[in-house]
Amino acid sequence: VTDTIAIPAIVHVIYNTEDENISEEQIRSQIDVLNKDFTKTNTDISQVPEEFAEIASTVNIHFSLDSIIRVSSTRPSWGTDDQMKFSSNGGSDVITPETHLNIWVCAIGGGILGYAQFPGDSASTDGIVISPQFFGTKGFVSPPFDQGRTTTHEVGHWLNLRHIWGDGNCTQDDFVEDTPASDGPNFGCPVYPSVRCNSNDITMNYMDYTDDACMYMFTEGQKDRMRAVFAEGGPRESFVK
Ligand code: ARG
Ligand code: ZN
Ligand code: CA
Repeated sequence: VTDTIAIPAIVHVIYNTEDENISEEQIRSQIDVLNKDFTKTNTDISQVPEEFAEIASTVNIHFSLDSIIRVSSTRPSWGTDDQMKFSSNGGSDVITPETHLNIWVCAIGGGILGYAQFPGDSASTDGIVISPQFFGTKGFVSPPFDQGRTTTHEVGHWLNLRHIWGDGNCTQDDFVEDTPASDGPNFGCPVYPSVRCNSNDITMNYMDYTDDACMYMFTEGQKDRMRAVFAEGGPRESFVK
């Protein structure tokens, strides 16, 4: 697959307060960020240091807003155990996960910005979950995570990307060849270069933990790993059929 992959998104807004019942404008602002980040048309791409400039990739995935589902809830927060994905728990059931990216926007709590399910797991919980104040760039958003990059990061996981440090020490791979080895996340807005494991960390990658304004690229290797899930026999093959 070398051409554009089209992914329609279903956004489930599960709200307890009026602020959490985010506007359609806020939702569209998030879809816009995804479309820029996955086509390398984000304006901050120009900040990529020379060392990484030639591996900065156009993933070439296009997202569209298919539908918005709104569910009022008495629950102030949800945690990370997928309960928001079931109407029987007061949440909202997944819709056609074979062909649609399901995004649940609800208060996760515990300072967690978002979380994702990797490809190949249960269809009933397939998708990503984002807290409303970290979703999109307009409306009820909270700096420094108000540039929509939490969703870009979680969609990266949904397409099989690991964190750039592989969630382990210098020998733990992220299964992507062109991302330099690291042994832990970077936070805030690091000044290049950040040396770890005898190489410069790619702290400006979407799969690190830096602030939204300080992450602005995927690599060619990450692009190949993400697009592989849509290949014949791959776990998200049904999206391109
Ligand atoms: N799963 C990560 C968390 O909740 C998301 C990190 C996203 N980072 C960001 N700059 N938006 O901590
Ligand atoms: Zn992550
Ligand atoms: Ca690597």
